[in-house]
Amino acid sequence: MDLPDLEAEAREKIEATFYDYIAGGAEDEGTLADNETSWSRWRLRPKVLRDVRTIDTSTTLLGETVSSPVAIAPMAMQHKASEAGPVATASAAAKAKALFCMGLFGAGSAGDVAAVAKGTPQWLQVYVMADRERSVEAIARSAEQGYKAVVITVDVARQGNRRRDARNRWSFQQSDGQVEDPNELFDHALTFSDIAWFVERSPIPIVVKGVMRGDDARACIDSGASGVVVSNHGGRQLDGAEATSDALPDVVDAVAGRGEVYVDGGIRRGQHVVKALALGAQAVFVGRPFMWGLVVADQKGVEGVLHGFQDEVERAMALCGVRSIGEIDRSLVVAGSLSGR
Ligand code: FNR
Ligand code: LAC
Repeated sequence: MDLPDLEAEAREKIEATFYDYIAGGAEDEGTLADNETSWSRWRLRPKVLRDVRTIDTSTTLLGETVSSPVAIAPMAMQHKASEAGPVATASAAAKAKALFCMGLFGAGSAGDVAAVAKGTPQWLQVYVMADRERSVEAIARSAEQGYKAVVITVDVARQGNRRRDARNRWSFQQSDGQVEDPNELFDHALTFSDIAWFVERSPIPIVVKGVMRGDDARACIDSGASGVVVSNHGGRQLDGAEATSDALPDVVDAVAGRGEVYVDGGIRRGQHVVKALALGAQAVFVGRPFMWGLVVADQKGVEGVLHGFQDEVERAMALCGVRSIGEIDRSLVVAGSLSGR
């Protein structure tokens, strides 16, 4: 899997402003860069002589079986990346029996995406809108449509200061031409009691995305959330935020098995996935690489990235002497120095 090449190919195919929107981060893009390099600050401690002829990467996400611990992160604007938009991404995920998380903002229809699930779990990501009824309705519909969990993203109290987007005068244009402004639409008053309020009204589990601290993660679980995604939104919100691989252990310790912990940000190799799981994540989400796949070859492109991760995760597991996801434990990883890749 050669993700830099895939990104270069995608870049050729789309407008520069759209490329910048996908690739870019907030302000000086320090957190964006740190997310990727930080996985190299952890080192693996491989086991040998473990009979690794058969490797099983399947796992469960809130009790639902998936083939892989690599899930597709919610991403807006997929309709601009490919004609079929998120339906193409979801179809690739369903074929591989991997989790796709549909993002409701700047996207296609949640119902169209749900229709291609074919028994594979899908989650629906929502932002809480200032017009709260809209969010309540979306959550109610999601269960009927067959989604297995609702992900509430909480790290967009204000839209990040994305310099590339400002220069490019980027706007969130829907497939119907309508322009949406997150700063106007989203509820900026959210607190933990709102999480509890949604948990009470949701027929399916709630996962909170964008949590970076153990104390916040504990408060989410205390509010009834079933899990948290350790995420800094791919470096697109608060520049200067810690890298997610560094934030993960504190969150895992604080949650202490009372909910599931997932992580995203800069995960580009199978070895990064193994490190995340060794640090206590139940699964990882990957964002931009799937967008590049979608741009380059629609559903097939997303399938290619899924296969690439599958191949690398299997190899990394074999070389670490673990045959199943359950065998990946904390002893496999150690904090190391950063000396390149
Ligand atoms: C995102 N992300 C995102 N997150 C979310 O909760 N709702 C959304 O609508 C979007 N939209 C979005 C669009 C694009 C183009 C990108 C790149 C990202 C953040 C995403 O879910 C995830 O947190 C990061 O992308 C993970 O980092 P990597 O894998 O891209 O480094
Ligand atoms: C983004 C918003 C949509 O990251 O979450 O672009």
